[in-house]
Amino acid sequence: MADARKRLETEAVAGPLGRASNHDSAAKHVAGEALYIDDIAEPAGLAHAYLGLSEVAHGRLISLDLAAVRTAPGVLTVLTAEDIPGANDISSTHRHDEPVFTTRNILHHGQPLFAVIAETRDLARRAAGLAKATYEEATPLLDVAAARAAGGELVTDPLKLERGDVAGALAASPRRLKGAMEIGGQDHFYLESQIALAIPGEDEDMLVLSSTQHPSEVQHMVAQVLGVGSHAVTVEVRRMGGGFGGKETQANLFACVAALAARKLKRPVKLRPDRDDDMVITGKRHDFVVDYEIGFDDEGHIHAVDAVYAARCGWNADLSGPVTDRALFHMDNCYFYPAVRGRSQPLRTHTVSNTAFRGFGGPQGMVGAERFIEEVAFATGLDPLEIRRRNLYGAIGRDITPYHQQVEDNIAGEVIAELERRCDYRARQTAIREANRKSPVIRRGIALTPVKFGISFTATWYNQAGALVHVYTDGTVALNHGGTEMGQGLHVKVAQVVAQAFGIGLDRIKITATTTGKVPNTSATAASSGSDLNGMAALDACETIKARLIAFASKRWEVSAEEIAFLPGRIRIGTQEMSFAELVAAAYMARVQLSATGFYATPKIHWDRKAGRGHPFYYFAYGAAAAEVAIDTLTGEYKVERVDILHDCGTSLNPAIDKGQIEGGFVQGMGWLTTEELWWDDRGQLKTHAPSTYKIPVASDRPRIFNVDLLEKAPNREPTIHRSKAVGEPPLMLAISVLHALSDAVASVGDHRFCPRLDAPATPERILDAVDRMREQARGAAP
Ligand code: MTE
Ligand code: MOS
Repeated sequence: MADARKRLETEAVAGPLGRASNHDSAAKHVAGEALYIDDIAEPAGLAHAYLGLSEVAHGRLISLDLAAVRTAPGVLTVLTAEDIPGANDISSTHRHDEPVFTTRNILHHGQPLFAVIAETRDLARRAAGLAKATYEEATPLLDVAAARAAGGELVTDPLKLERGDVAGALAASPRRLKGAMEIGGQDHFYLESQIALAIPGEDEDMLVLSSTQHPSEVQHMVAQVLGVGSHAVTVEVRRMGGGFGGKETQANLFACVAALAARKLKRPVKLRPDRDDDMVITGKRHDFVVDYEIGFDDEGHIHAVDAVYAARCGWNADLSGPVTDRALFHMDNCYFYPAVRGRSQPLRTHTVSNTAFRGFGGPQGMVGAERFIEEVAFATGLDPLEIRRRNLYGAIGRDITPYHQQVEDNIAGEVIAELERRCDYRARQTAIREANRKSPVIRRGIALTPVKFGISFTATWYNQAGALVHVYTDGTVALNHGGTEMGQGLHVKVAQVVAQAFGIGLDRIKITATTTGKVPNTSATAASSGSDLNGMAALDACETIKARLIAFASKRWEVSAEEIAFLPGRIRIGTQEMSFAELVAAAYMARVQLSATGFYATPKIHWDRKAGRGHPFYYFAYGAAAAEVAIDTLTGEYKVERVDILHDCGTSLNPAIDKGQIEGGFVQGMGWLTTEELWWDDRGQLKTHAPSTYKIPVASDRPRIFNVDLLEKAPNREPTIHRSKAVGEPPLMLAISVLHALSDAVASVGDHRFCPRLDAPATPERILDAVDRMREQARGAAP
């Protein structure tokens, strides 16, 4: 005991901030020692739930015979809508369009009808398959085209952004073109699938361990279905094995079913679907169809953009409103449109309810923006990078977004120029064009695309956070905040902030599980805002404690507050120095409170959705990527040969974590735009529900050369936590460079005379089709 304490006290500490510290659980992740919910020692009496799912995508449930399920071996009970003591509603919006179990309307294949609880998971799973349901089937609307053809029912209110006289500017543009682009969806493919463990307590109490990005929402949903107050429900999350947006709302179902079963049986209950069922049940990234008209001139300057962003939202609203809104917020990417109109069309379909996914609609908006650029480049015969540069946001008059926010922190031009220089872009482009002329089968392509991503929840009230910091008398600290850890490194970043504030080592901070019992009313850990919000809230708590310690020390040692300094590893009080632990111990004896809550609300932001005007983003995060690919024009197969990235994290809180986020985000974006293809059959059954048919990138798909740099000396101009910038989502969109490099390689087949109009995902099949089309176009146009 004394030894441990001595070691902690004597350890020399340099400021932990900005240091490339490992993820707090890195060693445990690789050793398999990090505890996920399925690893936790099972409580006595644990029972297991499994969901029974609809076998049709659209229609009515006529009968549901559960007799064989009830009498199957090991079965303890069955849950249907009738067993719900509270509301049969887990909708994350106020539309009340998502029941736990449906009683009548079937709105997608894989919709939960009931749950069975048995002594083992295997028995529950087998029993679930014994249900006999009959349906009155109706034709399912499965995609944007079908939904539009049937009248285009919307799941939520559409958004319109408009600035300037669009019709007039289009009419006055020297040149105009129209087009459409399809952008595919994406499964989250978190390594840990959805899971919840509910443990009933005294009275109506329920503890739920949930793999969720949004413990407060799970708490409210569980309370709502159980018909109890939120104070009876505690939700705890130590970590997720990946969330990526897929656990922002989609965890509600699993947590609520486990809690309902635990309440009914008065036993702990765990629910973990198979990977296949997880993929069949849960919402994914929205697919989009973007219809656009662009007005421009011969120099490649865009004069006007008019575009409609239609999304496959699935069977209920979920987050489709804010997701389709964010697509419009990024329809400009880094580019100024003198006149612009963007409209969203969040369409109801009989598919899973699409949801948050890293970038939250922004990536789809941005893919559209880069297509506009590419169209203008091919139409004018100018280089795409030159078109990008000419249309960047600029000085006053060219700095207003489609949502009327002024871009005050634009560094896109500098980032592009610096990356272009670092990766020798021009020379490589010339060499690639040269080599392609002598290479009939293998064609190379290169592209450089920028990113500008708006940081803040567009639902302004979500931009708040709380923290709870306890300092113990030995100088160690228990840190709790509202953010959840899903692998992104939020906990180590916030711990660094606290360690820095107290001048102590990172090993003196205990990272604790997120729980609604310690910090209430939290927002989802999402919108990349985790460290911005929770870092500030934790710092606020530290400042409160420090103020008390300073007041105490100045009285006790008769020095002014200015003579007290928290230095790395020691505290200076006038002419003497002592350790944090010594000061804390003395403060305790003098009855000074050593625990505090902290709070933060993002300043400056506001948004009027009706008017389509405001300042929804506190700031923007920037980046750029240059990708080089090689395609095989006989098979459509391709390789990403080299990627260079320069990304803006402001003053990074932790360069190792940030670099990991950039690499991971890029590779995930690359998967979305290349090989990850979701495929439903005409009865609305998802056929790509396992890694055998759904191809995410693996280690061997990593770019062979992968240079990732953080932009240096680039503090956030806003006073964010230590001038850092959010990094969770923006790098995903750097992968748009891969789509455009593939497009460049395809274009070479037609001597760069025609725009390939490559849709996403650019699977090998699509590349081959595009090459064929390009050959035909080239033949048709041959003199
Ligand atoms: N990184 C890992 N390893 N795992 C994840 O699930 N989710 C991403 C991103 N990075 C994710 C990740 C998403 S969708 C978001 S919004 C942010 O992390 C959330 O965390 P942050 O706000 O702390 O950056
Ligand atoms: Mo991230 S899509 O905001 O969870």
